[in-house]
Amino acid sequence: MRALADILDLARWAPSGDNTQPWRFELVGPEHAVIHGFDTRDHCVYDFAGRASQVSLGALLETITIAASGYGFVVSVQRRMHLPETRPTFDVHLLADARVRADPLIDSIRVRSVQRRPLSTRPLRDEQKAALEAAVGSDHSVLWLEGFADRLRMARLLFANAKIRLTMPEAYPVHRDVIEWGVQFSEERIPDQAIGLDRVTTRAMKWAMQSWGRVDFLNRFLAGTLAPRIQLDLVPGLACAAHFVIVAREEAQTVEHFLAGGRAVQRFWLTTTAIGLQLQPAYTPLVFSAYVRAGVRFSVVPALWDQAVTVTSGLGTILGVDNVKRAIFMGRIGSGSAAKARSMRLPLDRLWV
Ligand SMILES: Cc1cc2nc3c(=O)[nH]c(=O)nc-3n(C[C@H](O)[C@H](O)[C@H](O)COP(=O)(O)O)c2cc1C
Repeated sequence: MRALADILDLARWAPSGDNTQPWRFELVGPEHAVIHGFDTRDHCVYDFAGRASQVSLGALLETITIAASGYGFVVSVQRRMHLPETRPTFDVHLLADARVRADPLIDSIRVRSVQRRPLSTRPLRDEQKAALEAAVGSDHSVLWLEGFADRLRMARLLFANAKIRLTMPEAYPVHRDVIEWGVQFSEERIPDQAIGLDRVTTRAMKWAMQSWGRVDFLNRFLAGTLAPRIQLDLVPGLACAAHFVIVAREEAQTVEHFLAGGRAVQRFWLTTTAIGLQLQPAYTPLVFSAYVRAGVRFSVVPALWDQAVTVTSGLGTILGVDNVKRAIFMGRIGSGSAAKARSMRLPLDRLWV
């Protein structure tokens, strides 16, 4: 049991959307665990069709595989297909194999973390890009948006996209519940100090987030979205070496596709850490464009649909419409110091079922 528990203890450092950690663990035998996954689509507007949770679960499974290699195991994973999609559940078996070599990405599992502050604009070197492109494997590829003009286009798109997030009543409870105020570290949520706002704006946000009425008032009469959108989207959107998009060979449609995407995302992110770079995902433009393509209204506010259509077509202009359909994940990347504030994880003893 010891090795398996140690492997899960390391793998729980996999990233998940809003640090939801949509997994619980069950030890069945010394080399057999069950991963009880779940999604948050019933209360999180960003988890459209459970995809963000599936990407996170894929990242967890990849991390288990990488961690297990350090103990001389290969990992076999079977999803229990009779269970509903909202509860992706996996039997994980460790298989001892003398040929297994420890994956060098192991050392990056615990230190990998999102950096939401501005990064250096120094361009990525060819060998850095090559390492990152190799990391996603043959079923995925990486699009790069580099140079000032492209970064500006992306920064403007993220600025427009953030207006949807910040004025959408459906996102208010998500934001309210995910931020832990006044802390540097948070086990279950995101610490306010890791968000990337300055002190004054953090204080204003904390005040506003007490009720939707306050958020709405700030937004309507005091241009309340402006400071956060400048600090969280426009400035960081420019202050990076590049934006990246991880694209699947075929448009992802099934849970398996999104799990595979999550595996590629985690290898990309761990490689980023291993080569001394920092990264921040920018996932929500892909969420809104998925809603738009599926024709699923995500808000009671009609104007937000029009804004999502604009973001979707803007993304199509920048990336190509076909690439938007096949995109699994996107974000910005560059060199910089590691984040001082970060999300931690639930301890292993709270993850057992
Ligand atoms: C599917 C997915 C979507 C994410 N989307 C965003 C995002 O849009 N913006 C952001 O700043 N971080 C995003 N993150 C990063 C998570 O918030 C972060 O991984 C989590 O809070 C744990 O923190 P850590 O990565 O520093 O350990 C995303 C992560 C995943 C796996």
